[in-house]
Amino acid sequence: MSDKRPQIKLGLSMAGYGYHHSAWLSPDVPADGVSSFDFYLNQARIAERGLFDMAFLADFLTFSMIDTPRGVSGRSVRGGSFEPLTLLSALTPMTKNIGLAATTSTTFGVPFHVARTFASLDLLSGGRAAWNVVTSFQDEEAENFGSAQILDKSSRYDRAEEFVDVVLGLWDSMAPDAFLYDRASGMLFDPTKVRALNHEGRHFRVKGPLGAPRSVQGRPVICQAGASEHGQELAARTADVVYSVQPTLAGAANFYEGLKSRMAKYGRDRDEIKIMPGLLPVLGGTETEAQAKFKAMQEMIDPLVGLRYLSALFGDLSDYPIDDPVPDLRQDKELATRAQVILNLARENNWSIRQLYQRTAIGNTHNVVVGTPEQVADVMQEWIEGRGADGFNVLPALSPVSLVEFVDQVIPVLQRRGLYRTAYEGTTLRANLGLPEPPSAH
Ligand SMILES: Cc1cc2nc3c(=O)[nH]c(=O)nc-3n(C[C@H](O)[C@H](O)[C@H](O)COP(=O)(O)O)c2cc1C
Repeated sequence: MSDKRPQIKLGLSMAGYGYHHSAWLSPDVPADGVSSFDFYLNQARIAERGLFDMAFLADFLTFSMIDTPRGVSGRSVRGGSFEPLTLLSALTPMTKNIGLAATTSTTFGVPFHVARTFASLDLLSGGRAAWNVVTSFQDEEAENFGSAQILDKSSRYDRAEEFVDVVLGLWDSMAPDAFLYDRASGMLFDPTKVRALNHEGRHFRVKGPLGAPRSVQGRPVICQAGASEHGQELAARTADVVYSVQPTLAGAANFYEGLKSRMAKYGRDRDEIKIMPGLLPVLGGTETEAQAKFKAMQEMIDPLVGLRYLSALFGDLSDYPIDDPVPDLRQDKELATRAQVILNLARENNWSIRQLYQRTAIGNTHNVVVGTPEQVADVMQEWIEGRGADGFNVLPALSPVSLVEFVDQVIPVLQRRGLYRTAYEGTTLRANLGLPEPPSAH
């Protein structure tokens, strides 16, 4: 038996000013960051210095002007000004090893276009591209695409299943040796090694082929984050990386086992998916110092922004006394998995409304670990060894300062423990993640 320790995989989520919903108020955060290319370049380079597997950009197809509770509009933004693929394309020549993951919606995108843009990013980056497959969930997004309401979840996943298949099929248009570049015979490519898709399904008719040669990593990596029954089935069948929201090891281990055990029926090995729950570290030289820092972060949340975070999940709570226990929250809408997690936390801990947003509007219900670098490394080790994770999606509370702390203080501890690389293993994202070469139909 090998005595090699499991190797932790790391992603960086470059969301907005950081995961703290009022992060931009911090003097440590550049106030104009989210519309500045250098803000993202700096984060990608810091993550690359920390040997991260990938940097990830979430995306939502709306700029919210919702003013619930009244007065909140204009007090914060979530997400960036940049369209993810455009930004990651610009980061490509400025980085060397780090994977670049962009979010694109299967509800509002078109498979041919998605296949083409991600294949391009994969070629440009030398095999470092990843597609974070989301189905979107907000009515405000639907309103930008001709409908008043988002499709119901089941229909969204139905479309997503076929969407991903079409994209995978298009990415497999060419055999690895399809391009001959043979001036002597005059043959540029071998037509017998290029395959039309001829897909005709319930949602899409796509002939193909896609004109992109097979990438050095076979095809872009597929990330997925839906945790519902539908979401997990889609992931078990098609994902290479799964982001999850798991605030406890028990829940994470349950999710991990559940998802990995679904893979066999799709003929997949358990190691073919890397599960990376979110981790928001709040670091201090001592535990007391870290706790004080966390308290200051909690107090920095603009109460209106905190209430808006909750209102997006549960409706407007601004008529309730903010320091009273969380009332019976509405159940009239199918709750997203994340909302259910939050509701359970509130019930278990008997939190007030203020405590609920203070606990959740920093880390979005992800696992928030407050402590010394060793304590954060302990939790990571415990989750890896307890089969709750293959790695983590690191969520800086305040960008980039929380990321710098993590890279400078936690990474060396993980390396000393033999749990983390000291150099990139390969040049492609797939090689660094330790994922197998995807099969080719040719
Ligand atoms: C870590 C994480 C990141 C996500 N990023 C996005 C995103 O960038 N854009 C988006 O529309 N949805 C995003 N989602 C939402 C999921 O894709 C999914 O729509 C949501 O979790 C509801 O589906 P579910 O009930 O299957 O979990 C994210 C979810 C998680 C857990």
